[in-house]
Amino acid sequence: MPTLQSKDLLGIETLSPDEITLILDTAEAMRSIGERQIKKVPALRGRMVVNLFFEASTRTRFSFETAEKWLSADSLNFAAKGSSVEKGESLLDTARNLQAMAPDLIVIRHGTPGVPHFLARHLRAGVVNAGDGAHEHPTQALLDAMTIRRHFGRLEGLRVAIVGDLAHSRVVRSNIWLLTKMGARVVVCAPPTLLPPRIDEMGVEATTDFDEALAEADVVMMLRMQLERQGSSLFPSAREYFKRYGLTAAKLARASPDAVVMHPGPMNRGVEISSEVADSPRSLILEQVSNGVAVRMAVLYLLLTGHGWEGEA
Ligand code: CP
Repeated sequence: MPTLQSKDLLGIETLSPDEITLILDTAEAMRSIGERQIKKVPALRGRMVVNLFFEASTRTRFSFETAEKWLSADSLNFAAKGSSVEKGESLLDTARNLQAMAPDLIVIRHGTPGVPHFLARHLRAGVVNAGDGAHEHPTQALLDAMTIRRHFGRLEGLRVAIVGDLAHSRVVRSNIWLLTKMGARVVVCAPPTLLPPRIDEMGVEATTDFDEALAEADVVMMLRMQLERQGSSLFPSAREYFKRYGLTAAKLARASPDAVVMHPGPMNRGVEISSEVADSPRSLILEQVSNGVAVRMAVLYLLLTGHGWEGEA
């Protein structure tokens, strides 16, 4: 039976197309657990998962917790605030002390790129990257792919425009790895100050022209302006940014007539996206959140059992 090659999920860059397909197919099969009256199966009973969050999160943290609960795993939730990190305990000491309580898997979000990889080298437990700085956010890309695949029935051949603060985005990097591996055409778009140099070397088209990015796009994925990660102002004002790069209904009309809108959240309404688009029938934004639970169930199950899902009562 197919499974994942590693004890960890650290990024999309190292996954094969077969592994990506396995996770998406498993998530599709597990999605129905959330549609039952009793949303619980015993699949991971007796397994312990530590959710270690050093950065703020709503969607990722709660969907991992939901996935763990629906699969009957035990969850330990760690937030840096209120822990001994505030007394100066190092990351590795924190992780080693948690390891001493014998968790099977650690889900970590951290502001520094590479922290999940560092922990994976030092801990027996599996490690899942829930976002490391501006590096990768693999489960976000997987839930985005699941959402696109559910809507269009495929990823191959679709044109996906990813627009916004690319310089500070881990979502864009994971999505580029995933979508290009799966045969989608990706165009990325940002103002010159937020467009990483040589991003086109990742196999994507890069432009500063929003209209050019939107032309014939099947999916328009808007990214959050990450003001908290910007040292100095990289654009004149939120109002000016919205005028040039904000997604309105008029702008969306430039994309393919059947184009859908996505956003990983949290949204800055009136900065990168208008409410009329975010709340429109063409928006898949809340569907992304629901699919996030299914994808995280699939990742937890595949990593912790070492085999595929055959369905469970
Ligand atoms: N998309 C995402 O990672 O959202 P959170 O920061 O709320 O987890």
